[in-house]
Amino acid sequence: MFAGSIPHGCVEQLLKVVPLGHWSSVRVAWSGAFILEQSILSRYPDLEVYGNDVSLYSCSLGKALINEPIDINFHSRLQFIQDYLGKDAPYSIKVAAVLVAYELSKYASDNIYGKKHFDYIQEAFPEILIKFHLKIEALIERTKLKGFFSGDWKEQVKEAAESGGGFIAFPPLKKGGPKKMQDFLDSSISWEPPSFNHFDPKELSSTIDWLKSLGIPYCLGSDQFLQEHEKCSYFIRSRDNSFYVYSDFSGRNSLRHYSNSQDTRASGSAEPFLYTPIDTARLRKKSKVEIVKAEQNNLNFIKNIYLAKGISHSFSGNIKPAYFVFIDKMLAGGIIYKPSDYAVITDSGIHYEPSQMLRILSDVCVSTQNKCSKLISMIATSRSLILPIQNQKLNKIEYITTTAFSNSKMSMKYRGIFELNSRRPSTDEIDGYDYVLQYGSKVSELQPHQLYRIWFDKYSGLKSKTRNNGQQSSSRKAEKLN
Ligand SMILES: C[S@@+](CC[C@H](N)C(=O)[O-])C[C@H]1O[C@@H](n2cnc3c(N)ncnc32)[C@H](O)[C@@H]1O
Repeated sequence: MFAGSIPHGCVEQLLKVVPLGHWSSVRVAWSGAFILEQSILSRYPDLEVYGNDVSLYSCSLGKALINEPIDINFHSRLQFIQDYLGKDAPYSIKVAAVLVAYELSKYASDNIYGKKHFDYIQEAFPEILIKFHLKIEALIERTKLKGFFSGDWKEQVKEAAESGGGFIAFPPLKKGGPKKMQDFLDSSISWEPPSFNHFDPKELSSTIDWLKSLGIPYCLGSDQFLQEHEKCSYFIRSRDNSFYVYSDFSGRNSLRHYSNSQDTRASGSAEPFLYTPIDTARLRKKSKVEIVKAEQNNLNFIKNIYLAKGISHSFSGNIKPAYFVFIDKMLAGGIIYKPSDYAVITDSGIHYEPSQMLRILSDVCVSTQNKCSKLISMIATSRSLILPIQNQKLNKIEYITTTAFSNSKMSMKYRGIFELNSRRPSTDEIDGYDYVLQYGSKVSELQPHQLYRIWFDKYSGLKSKTRNNGQQSSSRKAEKLN
């Protein structure tokens, strides 16, 4: 009971970053098990917090938290509950009985396994009821809600806008809920359910647009990464299990990240750090390019956030040379090299031995704007980055190779800047990509800032005088210029 789908650490992090204490009131939606409300109130006990939901579970609890009982009656297979409670049972006991009914709904199927469990819970009902009741009493004690709205989340948003308060929620990650359980509850408990619409996670971006247009403070947590919306914190459990908090709050120009220690087993240790992600609209032709040697664990951290989900490399083990690329002090991306194990015959027919080559294990970019990822790959070819490695190996490095996984026959990232040396269909059924593409490029004698200027003119679609007006033309337009 009371276990929600929101990662606890994510809420803790959100509360550290967003100053909810400055909001006049907080409207929560999709309250579920009141996880958010409990965390907010334990940090800001005097804040006016309003819950919202539509299910019998959450509405009966929510109404208990504000001491406004609603009518609930058990019948059909749950008639035994009604008989046990009688007419005058205190409301909080009735709510405890609702929670037992939810337990029973898991075993409502007409099979031996279901019947056995159902019978067991029915027999033990008085003891289970007491256990749930104690939990509810404890929840009521520590969760002093100002109000609870039984109805659609959109109404809760409107309330926040009308009252001048803020809105905070972790919307459902899937559309709808378990139908069988719901059917059982509907057929054996009567109450007045509110009308509502199911939230479709595809609506997340337009929901954020709506909140922005209302001009209210907001925080929305989700497992979806939306490039187009500002985030105030990332919470990374593993590469395939991250939470992002979207918020109007921009009091710090650096994001807060947290990755829990379990990540480190999957991809080598990952250490969070504060940085300003690149905003390509602020770039100009003479922007300052800085290449900084990266600590492996910091780079892992960036990779966990920005690398396409599903692509997984092992980074632990031998230390690999790694760099961050900063432009005007904003982090654009990172590069990790490794020695090459194979000889290559390039598309243009030149043979390179492994000793003459270096592989790019990762060239990660923090922005999807203005073909920024091309810039990182171009900079990865610069001899100035390769020189320290070359000096250690005592071999001249002539050629850089890398592998791209793609659903297209070509990778847009490397197109025009690297040559495609081989293409084969992916044999890995679960990585989700159709092709494995081998790309390569001669080592460039140009410095990173020179490569940056080529990228700026040729690929970025940015105009030379963007310092003050931030104007940018589309990348497509830039391609036409080539
Ligand atoms: C995934 S659950 C709980 C999420 C919650 N943030 C948590 O992790 O504890 C989603 C909740 O949203 C509620 N819900 C579904 N549709 C809703 C709607 N249109 N308006 C308000 N709440 C809704 C469900 O009853 C359920 O309690």
